[in-house]
Amino acid sequence: MNEKAPALTARPAWKALHAHWDALRGVHLRDLFANDEHRGERLAAEAAGLYLDYSKQRVTDGTLGLLLALAAECGLRERIDAMFRGDRINVSEKRAVLHVALRAPAGSSLTLDGLNVVPQVQAVLGRMEEFTRRIRSGDWKGHTGRRIRNIVNIGIGGSDLGPVMAYEALRWYSERDLTLRFVSNVDGTDFVEATRDLDPAETLFIVSSKTFTTLETMTNAQSARAWTLAALGSDTTVAKHFVAVSTNAEGVAKFGIDTANMFGFWDWVGGRYSMDSAIGLSTMLAIGSQHFRAMLEGFHAMDEHFRTAPLERNLPVLMGLLGVWNTNFLGARTVAVLPYDQYLKRFPAYLQQLTMESNGKHVTLDGSTVDYQTGPVYWGEPGTNGQHSFYQLIHQGTQAVPCDFIAFRKPLNALGRHHDLLMANVFAQTEALAFGKTAEQVKAEGTPDWLVPHRVFAGNRPTSTILADQLTPATLGALVALYEHSVFTQGTIWGVDSFDQWGVELGKALAQRIVGELEEPAGAKLAHDSSTNALIKRYRRTDR
Ligand code: F6P
Repeated sequence: MNEKAPALTARPAWKALHAHWDALRGVHLRDLFANDEHRGERLAAEAAGLYLDYSKQRVTDGTLGLLLALAAECGLRERIDAMFRGDRINVSEKRAVLHVALRAPAGSSLTLDGLNVVPQVQAVLGRMEEFTRRIRSGDWKGHTGRRIRNIVNIGIGGSDLGPVMAYEALRWYSERDLTLRFVSNVDGTDFVEATRDLDPAETLFIVSSKTFTTLETMTNAQSARAWTLAALGSDTTVAKHFVAVSTNAEGVAKFGIDTANMFGFWDWVGGRYSMDSAIGLSTMLAIGSQHFRAMLEGFHAMDEHFRTAPLERNLPVLMGLLGVWNTNFLGARTVAVLPYDQYLKRFPAYLQQLTMESNGKHVTLDGSTVDYQTGPVYWGEPGTNGQHSFYQLIHQGTQAVPCDFIAFRKPLNALGRHHDLLMANVFAQTEALAFGKTAEQVKAEGTPDWLVPHRVFAGNRPTSTILADQLTPATLGALVALYEHSVFTQGTIWGVDSFDQWGVELGKALAQRIVGELEEPAGAKLAHDSSTNALIKRYRRTDR
């Protein structure tokens, strides 16, 4: 049993924040900027190559002071130390949370139960590097003696979203002679479309699954095995065309993959925090081990900043606290993540699991039901595409949608005026969202009276801008770590376990039961509710 923590809503700083919001509610960002000509530079912080401008959030120095007081009351500093110390802060699963060890430099130390885990991490990295060298040099041969040209990662959730996101984000740095594909969905279309133009003799599957029991991944892995054997025959082909990334050596061996070709990780790495573990094998194959190491250095730089920087200048802490402010005081229910970089097109999808599987919780660590909002819905699309789609609602809709804009000073693909145009849009959007356009301004442009209300922009819509020099492996590492730690900061304030995911269990268990019923002859007795029964019966009709 965990000791009961004082209720969040009873904390002095929480109450003070409520009173403060009552006073600030009517204040416009126009006024906040007008009253402080240096606000734009003052409300900004920088670390690990990322510059965070939060001046367009609806906060004052007073707000930030109270949010930091709340962080102190919730023991944020102690929780950060506990994580880095290897304490079992994932209380519902009784696990340590040590993804920071995945990017700790060789020779450093992070201990769990008195044992330094960094050497284990480095040993796996060394094996991944050797494997990468063999694949990229053509030294590793497929069953027929041909070199491997296609890599297919099979995994789902944290064993897919991180690898896909990182591959897309760092594609500019990738070896173009290797084709990378990702299969996650149990929908057969995913596998069929991903492999239809691939030659099995030149294809290697990475079966990525922390547990090696996940239905989708195991089903796709079996289909991959059948696909390979159908083309290449003998059972010995599996050894040449399959490797595994898992914590479950027994499961891997049972599947028929030689554990010599398994890359391990540990129960103290959560699935959604694992893209820099062996789960990143496809990333390393694509970008090479030097770039992978550079990505780890970016992660580590942000880890060190999070661990050591004063909370008032600590990027993940500031981002996390601003998220709490927007969720619990401004009443925002969603956050839009808007990368102005095409290579980050999968970043919002990746963040959805990181944020929502972590903080979509309804009870605190001690099992009490919360009486406040926890994790908001994250969503987004790369700019400028979103501007021609959902930005209308963000500018003029009736709900507050705080936005994170992410942009880079230097393009990877310089092409005419493209980058200036892209960046002009970033700056224009955050300016428009903050300051809007008054009825007077609209009228002064000669707009007829009847049209004025339609053309007014209220403004006062909160945004943060993350600006970095260029999208590099290190920048990506720092960016991911920034979000990981801001999620942890928020989870600490909300008092929830950001590292478990019990909410995915019920649907999985029911699906296991129903699949049996679907495969039974039509007419077998069903004992669900009338809606589920009717849907199952309709599906089972023999005229499919
Ligand atoms: O169902 C959710 C989940 O458990 C995620 O937390 C995890 O990332 C994903 O499934 C995949 O799990 P595994 O890597 O064990 O196949």
